[in-house]
This record gives sequence, C-alpha cells and structure tokens, in this order.
Amino acid sequence: MTARWCDDFKLGIAILDNQHERFFSILGRLDSAQNTNGNNEILEKIFLDLINYCNYHFATEENAMEKNLFSRFEFHKVLHDCFIEKIYDFYYKFKKNDNSFVLSDSINFLNDWIIDHIMVEDRKYVSAVSDWFGKKQCNQDKSNSKVS
Ligand SMILES: [Fe+2]
Repeated sequence: MTARWCDDFKLGIAILDNQHERFFSILGRLDSAQNTNGNNEILEKIFLDLINYCNYHFATEENAMEKNLFSRFEFHKVLHDCFIEKIYDFYYKFKKNDNSFVLSDSINFLNDWIIDHIMVEDRKYVSAVSDWFGKKQCNQDKSNSKVS
C-alpha cells in the first residue's frame, strides 16, 4: 500500500508541495490498478503519467536549485536522474513481461524512495529556494491581477 499525502511531507513551498501531492496521487492510482487486477493498458498509461510527471516536477526543483546556486544541486540532480532511470527500468520490464518484474515490489520501491527523498534531500534545499519561489508567486499574482 502506498503512502497518502499528509502535512508531514510538506516543505512549505506551495508549488512543490502541490507537485509532491500529485506524485503520491499517481502512485496511488498505480497501486489501486494492481489491486483491482488492472489491465496492462491502464497500468501502462499510469506508468507513463508517472514518468512524465517526474520529469516535469524534477525540472521545477532543478531549475530552482540551479538559479539559486544551491551547493548540492549537482548531487541532487544525480539522485533524480537515477530515479527516472529506475522507473524506466520498471516500465520496460513491465512492457516485456520480464519474469524478474514484480509490480508490487516496484510500487514499494517508488513509494519508499519518494518519502525518503522528500523527508531528507528535498528538505536541504528549502532555505536556499523558498524566497525565490515566494517572489515568483508574488509576481505571478501581480500579473494575474493586471489581467483580470
Ligand atoms: Fe528532489
């Protein structure tokens, strides 16, 4: 069973918290699909959603870390790249009906990785990027209020 999003996971940066919450929801869909013997087409669609969303979310984090010269940026990016590789690895094994592929094990891996990553590594960049996200949000609010 995958974790449910809760306040303990929050970083206090709304855009990233929303993205993390979304990640948990996609993972939850994968979990539900396996529990209801979801057909392969459904599972494939969710896998691809997960890959796309991870790429999108990691790009948001990496852009913020790079723009703010966060010292652990390179290291953090390697962690992201390895994780994406791991999801692709699961996905291709799933597609090929590889005997070594066990969906529940891969879901457990993804679930444990994201919790550990948010609770340990993501927390390290918060002080370096939170003002930047705050200003970004503020500028966005201003331009939205001009439009309306
Ligand atoms: Fe991250």
